[in-house]
Amino acid sequence: MSANLNQTNIEIDDPNFRAVFQNLQGNILKGHGRDHSRHIFFAFKGDSDQNQQVLNKLAEKVTSAEAQHQQQSSYKQTGQAHLFVNLMLSCSGYQQLGIAPKDWPDDPAFRAGMKDLQTPFDTLPRGGHTPTANPLNDDISQWESGFQGRIDGMLLLALGGMAPDHAERTLTAEVQALQQTYDDNLELLFVQRGHVMRNDKGQVIEHFGFVDGVSNPKFLFSDLNEEFRNGGYSRNDPSAPLNLVLVKDPGGNPDSYGSYVVYRKLQQNIKGFWDRLALLANHLSENSSSPIDAEYAGALCVGRFKDGTPVSEQGNDGWSNLFNNFSYDDDADGLRCPFHAHTRKTNPRGDTVRQFNSPPTIERSRRIVRRGISYGETELSPEQEWTDAGLLFMCMQASIVDQFIFMQHTWCNNAGFVRPGTGIDPLVGQAPADAAPPPQQWRSGWSNPNASTTDFSFAGFVKTQGGEYFFMPSLDFLQSLGCRQGA
Ligand code: HEM
Repeated sequence: MSANLNQTNIEIDDPNFRAVFQNLQGNILKGHGRDHSRHIFFAFKGDSDQNQQVLNKLAEKVTSAEAQHQQQSSYKQTGQAHLFVNLMLSCSGYQQLGIAPKDWPDDPAFRAGMKDLQTPFDTLPRGGHTPTANPLNDDISQWESGFQGRIDGMLLLALGGMAPDHAERTLTAEVQALQQTYDDNLELLFVQRGHVMRNDKGQVIEHFGFVDGVSNPKFLFSDLNEEFRNGGYSRNDPSAPLNLVLVKDPGGNPDSYGSYVVYRKLQQNIKGFWDRLALLANHLSENSSSPIDAEYAGALCVGRFKDGTPVSEQGNDGWSNLFNNFSYDDDADGLRCPFHAHTRKTNPRGDTVRQFNSPPTIERSRRIVRRGISYGETELSPEQEWTDAGLLFMCMQASIVDQFIFMQHTWCNNAGFVRPGTGIDPLVGQAPADAAPPPQQWRSGWSNPNASTTDFSFAGFVKTQGGEYFFMPSLDFLQSLGCRQGA
């Protein structure tokens, strides 16, 4: 059977998808939901036959979408926690397995790898864009050494639903056990520890202190239903077809699907960010009848207030701060939420339709599925700049070039998106290493066409420490390794 990937609003126990979801890794269609994780980056040590056998053995640990669903139900009923495991491969991983190139996943960015700064990628020209090498403006000499070498794959272990200490100890023991079992065959290059941070309401936050993980494409009936109860769909449709995130696994049976994963370790300069916001707030206050504080300036950077309230919707009553049923239809000129705001850059909610007459389906097809987790120190007001704290950004998509790279390059890093003079995304926009980003324009009044504007450059508080492009293959592919012929 071949699944119809145009479908959405399905459920993991849908009998029509049983073979697909038994074979698909978890954490793609729905986040694994655990608060503690380990990302174990590895390189193969053996020849292709040995490497296939190792992976075949590791496949026993991997959690399918169906198993994730069962674990969730059993946790709700019995409180019993389960270890969650994903396994993903880079293109060099496929090479080390001796798989013929014609059978590798074919996304050009996946095949090139994140460290390739020479291959030009076609980010679908519109408004003067041409295929570009190094579309992310990466400077690999600044990356952590572990990310500069060859990475063949990554194992993600995650655990939650128990005391934090217990989860951390269990994960450490799991990593040690893996190290012992696979010492002859796998080089564990480095292990990155991740943990969810929460505010006093228990909502997930990132290191700058903003609620995170609110808006994501939804595939499952239960998730869509929850979003409906949380505000409805009248102004924003969060549903997404399976083909936003799934592609056929070239190495598996007809029921086999996988997803491309973008991994970026993003360090956050928390003190620098808030000091600069205080300065921005002072500038804005000079031209405003009422004082503007750093928290408000932060909302103009992110597009949401710290508690999640969309800056375009402030003052509206009747919905929770995790509200996602909004668009920028009533803010076509960016008088409420600046065009440069992170959430508006990464999900323009109709801006490209208004600005370029681009079909809404195209804008919606750029969406990514975010599955990142924070790392490092949890202090939200550190005294030092650049503490060991940040986001292990991870997103899944059906095309790295048309989704993540397009979003980062053509939207976040592009000072001319969505209008000339908009400026780069103040949170994650990366200017080329040798260029200073032009200033963004900031308004002193909300929804006021006569409010004065201030030019102010806000950038550089998130630094890429490394990353890689991966493919998360089907279980059928992993299980058949070692039983198949090499290249
Ligand atoms: C340290 C780096 C980052 C931080 C602190 C950060 C923070 C946030 C926050 C606070 C939100 C709003 C809450 C939500 O809707 O979930 C958000 C939304 C979002 N971010 Fe990021 N983010 C980071 C990196 C990135 C990167 C690299 C991308 C992709 C290029 C990205 C794409 C998105 C998208 C697509 C949304 C949802 C927008 C919407 O649908 O309204 N983020 N981020």
